Amino acid sequence: MVKKKRDKIIDLLKNQTSGQEVLVKGWVRTRRDSKGGFSFIEINDGSCLNSIQVVADHSLASYATASPNLHTGSCVAVAGELVQSQGKGQSMEVRASEIKVYGAADAEKYPLQKKRHSFEFLREIAHLRPRTNTFGAVMRVRNCLAFSIHKFFNDRGFIYLNTPIITTSDCEGAGEMFQVTTLDMKNPPLADGKIDYSQDFFGEKTGLTVSGQLEGETYAMALSDIYTFGPTFRAENSNTSRHLAEFWMVEPEMAFYDLDDDMDLAEEFIRHLLKDVLENCPEDMEFFNKRIEPTLIETLTNIVENQFERITYTEAIHLLEKSTQSFDYSVEWGCNLQAEHERYLCEKVFKKPVILFNYPQEIKSFYMKLNEEGETVRAMDVILPKLGEIIGGSQREDDLDILTRRMKTKGLDPEQYWWYLDLRRYGSAPHSGFGLGFERLVQFTTGMDNIRDVIAFPRTPKHAKF
Ligand code: 4AD
Ligand code: MG
Repeated sequence: MVKKKRDKIIDLLKNQTSGQEVLVKGWVRTRRDSKGGFSFIEINDGSCLNSIQVVADHSLASYATASPNLHTGSCVAVAGELVQSQGKGQSMEVRASEIKVYGAADAEKYPLQKKRHSFEFLREIAHLRPRTNTFGAVMRVRNCLAFSIHKFFNDRGFIYLNTPIITTSDCEGAGEMFQVTTLDMKNPPLADGKIDYSQDFFGEKTGLTVSGQLEGETYAMALSDIYTFGPTFRAENSNTSRHLAEFWMVEPEMAFYDLDDDMDLAEEFIRHLLKDVLENCPEDMEFFNKRIEPTLIETLTNIVENQFERITYTEAIHLLEKSTQSFDYSVEWGCNLQAEHERYLCEKVFKKPVILFNYPQEIKSFYMKLNEEGETVRAMDVILPKLGEIIGGSQREDDLDILTRRMKTKGLDPEQYWWYLDLRRYGSAPHSGFGLGFERLVQFTTGMDNIRDVIAFPRTPKHAKF
């Protein structure tokens, strides 16, 4: 081919200057032949939602060779001239001068046909679903959000910290850790009738992290403002549209922040990210608004422009008790709020995001700061309409004695967390942080129903294919 450097379709559609020589490479979405001796081939390279139309004259020398392999799914290179399109629906098209097929795709067997496929079906071909409009758009939005997260923190002087994936401590204390071992499962070494982990790879029992928070706190107690953004694992058997066994979490941790500062940051963070996506991914967002969730852009714009509601757990219980709506789970002070309760407050009562704070200490993790009255902890959850919880966070207990006591009542061995307690022994400081579930954010931003459809290869109970 005469031209060597590939042009991205996004640039060609934006550029709009007729007459230039271009080289397009991508995958054929559709092909149509006209009686007048032309083929119209839609090519997509994932650089944007739109495909570019290639018009190939049947008298082209390379057409005869390429034609038998020019079908939906095949990968091609097309050199030609960029011209204003005569047809409807596209601005620019490529008048081909040379066509080359890199890889053919058998039209009979290629699983992605022009018709709409269900998301359930697409999950079974998760290696090919990136070639659909929806998954291309999801991944571009996901990428935009990831970049925006780093930029948000970088602009505010936070240090990006990579915390370990293999760990010996269960941060949430909920016993949902996947175990990591090299011991022989059929014949593990025993000591006193129990598995002898001193003979395991790390010399003690290890698992995949459920949160980078505890390690994050150690660096906040030196660098002041840090954040993590990494994979997180939970062996919870929840087959819901909002749970994954492997998900990505963003966890900022800030020295000298109290719970109010923490809530302020969480709110600013979410509003900032949504604003960024609306500004930077207009085409993809239009697509979701049209095809997935008709009120999406309106909802997101409202969130960007308005403040969140903040109420205590106790106020939330009062509101729920007063409500005439019937719930599957009844409420009383001390109970864990269910998704139905959170959504009621968010969608029916306040009609906007809600931050709930000051939860009963019994239902929250050991590291959360106990309020003076001794019944509640300085915890907060951010709830979004339709989705429910997107952020969980708290001010951390910075008092050594109270923290040690709370660990014991929650059945944790303070000896095991000696290094975490050292942070309270040496130069303890008030500090706070939160965790945002990245896939839930992508889900909310795109309006996609199921969390399995906003991560490249979802891991859920009984599913770790690909
Ligand atoms: O509320 P969680 O469990 O909080 C923590 O892990 C704290 N250590 C965070 C911190 O304070 N640094 O989880 C935080 C968020 C949830 O609000 C939710 O968005 C997401 O992580 N999350 C999940 N996302 C997908 N699948 C799962 N199984 C999830 N579990 C939690
Ligand atoms: Mg939570």
